[in-house]
Amino acid sequence: MPALTDPFQYKGLRLGNRLVMAPMATGMAEDHRATEAQIDWYRQHARASVGLVVVEATAVLPDAIILPRNLGIWDDAQIPGLAAIAGAIKAGGAAAVIQLVHGGGRSVRADLSVERIAPSPVALLPGPAPREMTEAEIQDVIRAFAEGAARARRAGFDGVEIHAAHYYLLSQFVSPRTNHRTDRWGGSEENRFRMGVEVAKAVRAAVGPDCLVFCRMHGVENVEGGLDTLEAVRFAQALEAAGVDVIDASGIGQSSLGEWEGQPFLNTSSVPPKGSPGGGFAASARRIRHAVGIPVITVGKLAGPGLAQGVLDAGQADLVALARPLIADFRVAEKLLAGRDAEIEPCLECMACFAAIRKGSIRCTVNKALA
Ligand SMILES: Cc1cc2nc3c(=O)[nH]c(=O)nc-3n(C[C@H](O)[C@H](O)[C@H](O)COP(=O)(O)O)c2cc1C
Repeated sequence: MPALTDPFQYKGLRLGNRLVMAPMATGMAEDHRATEAQIDWYRQHARASVGLVVVEATAVLPDAIILPRNLGIWDDAQIPGLAAIAGAIKAGGAAAVIQLVHGGGRSVRADLSVERIAPSPVALLPGPAPREMTEAEIQDVIRAFAEGAARARRAGFDGVEIHAAHYYLLSQFVSPRTNHRTDRWGGSEENRFRMGVEVAKAVRAAVGPDCLVFCRMHGVENVEGGLDTLEAVRFAQALEAAGVDVIDASGIGQSSLGEWEGQPFLNTSSVPPKGSPGGGFAASARRIRHAVGIPVITVGKLAGPGLAQGVLDAGQADLVALARPLIADFRVAEKLLAGRDAEIEPCLECMACFAAIRKGSIRCTVNKALA
């Protein structure tokens, strides 16, 4: 079994080790363009020993944004800032991939008069339910992902990651809980997978054979009426057939029903419950890994003693991603690679980081640099 410190080579990807910075919205963009603080954030993380940085969810259209201070990739004018991020990551010694997102029914719109769109009118936030997308809107979104991927390539990224997880638009299509369509985009498994598959094909065509295409999806959904792991495995296989190079197997850690003006909405979180054991998504990542012929990444509370190496030892994934541990302690990767686990400043799972990015830029109660 590989060690965390072993290099990783796959197609054009050459990583110094098996640790990945998971995509994490920073809320640092201004006018949906990269800021100096954000470029510096990525420079610091790349220097701090992770082999690969996946840059935060970046919106493919203005109405696709998931945070007020979201990075955008719908306009050529956004390319120089993104190129500065890619350059800073590579100069720091890591490979650079950028995640592309459409929020769908979870978009936050700058212009509140614009309705949210989604496969079906299922509320995922407090507020009016989204409107069912037309065929023309579906085609526009597929094109926007492809154009965004082409811009990412021009900005110098080694790869792009399609965000088909966390109940944003593409996972809204995949999940039977949020897709009630009766046309070719809903109903059967093949139809629910179609949007993700078509986006993957369009992205692959836009970036050419040499650029890495990742897809983040759910191995497990703790959502009543949502996707189960057997379906997730088949979705991963469909993505591989569509040209995806790497599966980033995340999940829904917890879900609940909220209420807005007497109407229920489905609340979901990518983060496993506070106090739960680390590696809660790793078993499903392993099932995906055994069913596909491409590398798999897993994530979810993996900075605890021995957990990241344990994932590799158990054959659950090829690469191990960290999110909140990297916020709490910028040097966590270096410490894990050196076997100095005891020196890690642990994340307290207080979720101050998440709360902060809903309004402004990222904060942390552990890391004094982000107080
Ligand atoms: C502040 C914050 C921002 C996040 N932003 C993204 C994002 O942009 N894209 C994404 O796929 N996941 C995002 N996530 C989820 C993480 O990538 C990761 O899957 C999750 O936090 C579980 O990993 P952890 O236990 O190592 O934090 C975010 C998580 C946090 C805490």
